[in-house]
Amino acid sequence: MVALTPEMQELFKGTKYFAMATASKDGEPNVAPIGMAILIDPETIWIGNQFFHQTLSNLKENPRVALQVWTFGVPGCLKIKGDVQIVEKGPDYNKMYNMVKERKPNLECKGLVIMKITDVFDCRSGAEAGKRLL
Ligand SMILES: Cc1cc2nc3c(=O)[nH]c(=O)nc-3n(C[C@H](O)[C@H](O)[C@H](O)COP(=O)(O)O)c2cc1C
Repeated sequence: MVALTPEMQELFKGTKYFAMATASKDGEPNVAPIGMAILIDPETIWIGNQFFHQTLSNLKENPRVALQVWTFGVPGCLKIKGDVQIVEKGPDYNKMYNMVKERKPNLECKGLVIMKITDVFDCRSGAEAGKRLL
């Protein structure tokens, strides 16, 4: 596991929408837009499952995930990889359910996806493209 630096945390917190890539056990790829991604601590991202279909079935078969962190007009771009665990009851799930309700009262969180960060790469264009940062 790795911990995001303060600068990386700032970039994450300033990002509204992320692209989340998953793959089935046979390697069939999927990508989904997500907005409900919260940096709970420098090593952990909580993602709310309100609408996942292929994403959820992929996660059940293969816990590896990649997230793109990029916002138009904001310098910096990260690719964050990690391992996830799906939590559908208990105190952490209840906490996420309430956080989703606070942000979007019309949404019901069906599951909490807990992502532990394992790798971070630079995905800006230029000399540092693709460089491992953590
Ligand atoms: C901007 C945007 C943000 C979204 N954020 C989330 C989210 O945080 N959680 C979620 O479950 N679905 C979210 N959705 C909906 C899913 O991405 C969408 O239903 C997608 O089809 C799920 O992918 P899948 O069907 O391949 O699993 C979002 C959609 C958009 C357009």
